[in-house]
Amino acid sequence: MVFPEVRMRRLRKTELLRNMFKETDLYLDDFIYPVYLKEDLKYDDKEAIGSMPGQYRFSIDAAVDYLSYLNKMGLKSVLLFGLPSHKDELGSSAYDDNGIVQKVIHRLKDETDLVVIADVCMCEYTDHGHCGILNNNGYVLNDETLKYLSRIAVSYARAGVDIVAPSDMMDGRVGAIRSALDSNGFIDTGIMAYSAKYCSEFYAPFRDAVDSAPGFGDRRSYQMDPCNYNEALREVKLDIDEGADAIIVKPALSYLDVIKGVKDEFKMPTIAYQVSGEYSMLVNAVESGILSESAIWETLISIKRAGADKIISSFVGFMVNRLDGSEFSDFIQSLE
Ligand code: PBG
Ligand code: ZN
Repeated sequence: MVFPEVRMRRLRKTELLRNMFKETDLYLDDFIYPVYLKEDLKYDDKEAIGSMPGQYRFSIDAAVDYLSYLNKMGLKSVLLFGLPSHKDELGSSAYDDNGIVQKVIHRLKDETDLVVIADVCMCEYTDHGHCGILNNNGYVLNDETLKYLSRIAVSYARAGVDIVAPSDMMDGRVGAIRSALDSNGFIDTGIMAYSAKYCSEFYAPFRDAVDSAPGFGDRRSYQMDPCNYNEALREVKLDIDEGADAIIVKPALSYLDVIKGVKDEFKMPTIAYQVSGEYSMLVNAVESGILSESAIWETLISIKRAGADKIISSFVGFMVNRLDGSEFSDFIQSLE
C-alpha cells in the first residue's frame, strides 16, 4: 500500500503522537562526563579553558565538589584526565601513585557513587607531548610504550578506578594492560578501549585544555586515518580479542558510520566520544546566535541513534549549568 492510503504524517500530527512513536531518547544516564584535573591548582580553584567555553580545569577539591553535585543531579560516570605539574620524556607523573588522577580516583570512590573511568595515555605527561616513548628519531616505540601504559593502568587500579580507558592507539595495549591488571590482582578492573580513534583535528581544543599537543610532528603513525572504515572494524576485533570490556569510537559526529558499524557487527557496549572540537564548534555557534541549543540535542540524538550505548560529552557540564532547578531529562527534552 502506498499514498494516498499510507500517510507518514499521521503519526507526526501532534506532540503526543510524536512522543509516542519516538524511537530514541536521551537521559543523563547516557552520559560520561570528561573532567580535566590540574595539579598546579590548589584549594577549590578552577580555571576556565579558553578553547572550550563553559569547561574548566579543576583542582582536586573543586573537582570532587562539582562531580558530587553532578552525581546528585543524576550523573553516573566520569572520565578523568590529568594535567601534571611535572612532565618528562617518560611521562612519569602518570604512574605516580600520588598523581593528581590517582588522588581524585580515591576521593571520588570514597565520597560519591560515580563510576570512575580514567583515560590512560602519556601525552599529557610527556614533555614532548606524544602518546608514548620515543626513539632517537622521534618515532613512538610501540612495545616499549606498552610497559608504561600498563604501569599507569595498574596505578589507577590501585587507586580504585572502576575502568581504565587506554587512548594511545599502540598495538597490543589492551592485552598488555589486561595481563598487567590481572597479575597485580585487579581482575575486576574493566578496560574501555579507544579502539577506533581517528587522527582528528577535532581534538585541538582538548590539547589546549590539558597542554598535550605534540611538540613536533603529528599522531598519524598511531591514530587512525579518517579515510578508513574497515580498519576500524579490525581494530575493534583485536581489542575484543585482547580483552576489552567496552569499545570507544572517537570522534562521534564525523564517524557515525563507524559507531553504527561497530555496534551492528560486534554487539559490544559501544561508547561514542563527542570530542572537544565538536563541543566547542557547537557552543560557539549557539553563543553567537547562529544555531539554537536544539543543534546540540540533534547531534547527541544522532549519536545515540547510530548505536552508541553511552556518550562521552562535555555537554553534560554545559547542560547542567543551564538546568535552573529543572530535571536534566526535562531540560534535554526542552532542547528538542
Ligand atoms: C589522549 C586523548 C586525546 C583525547 C582523549 N584522550 C587527545 C589526543 O589524542 O590528541 C581527545 C579528547 C577530546 O578532544 O575531547 N590521547
Ligand atoms: Zn595521548
